[in-house]
Amino acid sequence: METKTAAAMVKTTIRELTNHEAQMVCLQGWVSNKRSSKALFFIELRDGSGFCQCVVDQNNVSEEVFQKAKDLSLASSVRITGQAVKDDRQIGGYEIKVEDLDVLQIVEEYPISNKAHGIEFLMEKRHLWLRSRRQWAVMRIRSRVKFTIHKFFQERGFIQTDAPIFTGAACEGTTTLFETDFYGDPAYLSQSGQLYAEATAMAHGKVYTFGPTFRAEKSKTRRHLSEFWMIEPEMAYYDLDMDMELIEDFIRYIVTDIYENYKPELEILERDLTLFENIHKPFPKITYDDAIKILKGKKDVDGKNAIQTLENDLAEVKNRIEECKKDIAEREANIAAGGMKKGAVNFNKNKIDTLKQEISKLEEKERNIPQWLESAKNFQHGEDLGGSDETVITRLFDTPVMVYKWPKDIKAFYMKRDEEDDNYVKGVDCLAPEGFGEIVGGAEREDNLDLLVERIKEHDLPMEAFEWYLDLRRYGSVPHAGFGLGFERLIMWLTNVSHIRETIPFPRYYGRLFP
Ligand code: 4AD
Ligand code: MG
Repeated sequence: METKTAAAMVKTTIRELTNHEAQMVCLQGWVSNKRSSKALFFIELRDGSGFCQCVVDQNNVSEEVFQKAKDLSLASSVRITGQAVKDDRQIGGYEIKVEDLDVLQIVEEYPISNKAHGIEFLMEKRHLWLRSRRQWAVMRIRSRVKFTIHKFFQERGFIQTDAPIFTGAACEGTTTLFETDFYGDPAYLSQSGQLYAEATAMAHGKVYTFGPTFRAEKSKTRRHLSEFWMIEPEMAYYDLDMDMELIEDFIRYIVTDIYENYKPELEILERDLTLFENIHKPFPKITYDDAIKILKGKKDVDGKNAIQTLENDLAEVKNRIEECKKDIAEREANIAAGGMKKGAVNFNKNKIDTLKQEISKLEEKERNIPQWLESAKNFQHGEDLGGSDETVITRLFDTPVMVYKWPKDIKAFYMKRDEEDDNYVKGVDCLAPEGFGEIVGGAEREDNLDLLVERIKEHDLPMEAFEWYLDLRRYGSVPHAGFGLGFERLIMWLTNVSHIRETIPFPRYYGRLFP
């Protein structure tokens, strides 16, 4: 067998199969699934570039090769040689008619099977979990978005710059600092590269950083990591309006790119594409005051009331739970009645599993919505928006929303005061719809030396640590603005995963340092 095929065979990857239609190819990968039917084995191979069905037909291969196929287990490593056949029913569009198998390692028992596992177990096995289809799709999108972000800024004349990770002072409040020892002096892991980006913006005009940042968030939420990546553009001679315009262009550019180039990955993730189809629409810009009115049901958006919408959602959720339960009961009764073919029994059992999963998601909503309603009712003007408040507000929109003009007391020291009302600052948060919430925080910066000194005192920050930063206001101060995009928050939203820990290969969050 080997000698017959070797001459004309090309080593390639699943992604490249389209260039090798009807040719003999060799793929090197791992078994991600295996089914058998009489004289056939269907091996789903993954090779990093994609997934591909490889068919081993007893009538086509030697007894030895057929036996090797029989021995292959989940996650075993293997080289497969065969003919690439076009088959539109396959995800990648091709199937391999296997002629030869070269087994590198047979795996005795792979810890992650194709049945459902608990999240804690999967996190313990993160180094293996990364191989599974959904995680693979998320990481591919992550890589592409990183590339696209650089492309966006480079095309617009921005200079990429780097901020230090060891810092001497807090940028975003003192409650989330990770303290470390820097040759005997206290130092903090950077919460944000912004202050340094401000310095380099005065050297280059338009800059951006793209680096890891750290926040000690001693709580477990689905949106917080202790170590996350941030993109922080900073622009000389920009005001808040120009800043918001850039945020909008930037997000639209990324979403459009993923929509146009990453459809197979979005399909694996079962991403609802409505968001992507709406991304050309202008993003609404509302003040914090209006956002609070919307939250409390005192202001409608296009005739929709936030509180009423939530109440309707809750009623719908309850209805759907009842429907699912009824459906399950009927299917179980039909199976129990007997006389059903094996295939039909399996079909119904799978359907029941899917319905149960849907119920568990709906029940989470059923628990959450009343809490959101309660939280909206008790919200006091002047407080910061929590995750659930953001969910309630953005529920009424089908694009990201900009919330600007925030009360000064809940925002950072460096934000410039609003010229019309000293109680507010010229900050902006960009909130993603579908319950994802804040993905960007930005602002026009205080550029007046005396006012900035005042703010540092008000926030009780150590003046010496900011002397260098004050120099930026002493020597050629200009209006300037910037923002920070939480990279994993963005990926979470694009891929629609339910927890931010799935958006980075090895997440670090409260309670998780391994693997
Ligand atoms: O809103 P933040 O705190 O803003 C800043 O750090 C500014 N210095 C940015 C700037 O103007 N240059 O953080 C920016 C973004 C948030 O909108 C959020 O997306 C993300 O960073 N973020 C987190 N992501 C994951 N885990 C956490 N613990 C995060 N904290 C903030
Ligand atoms: Mg923020």
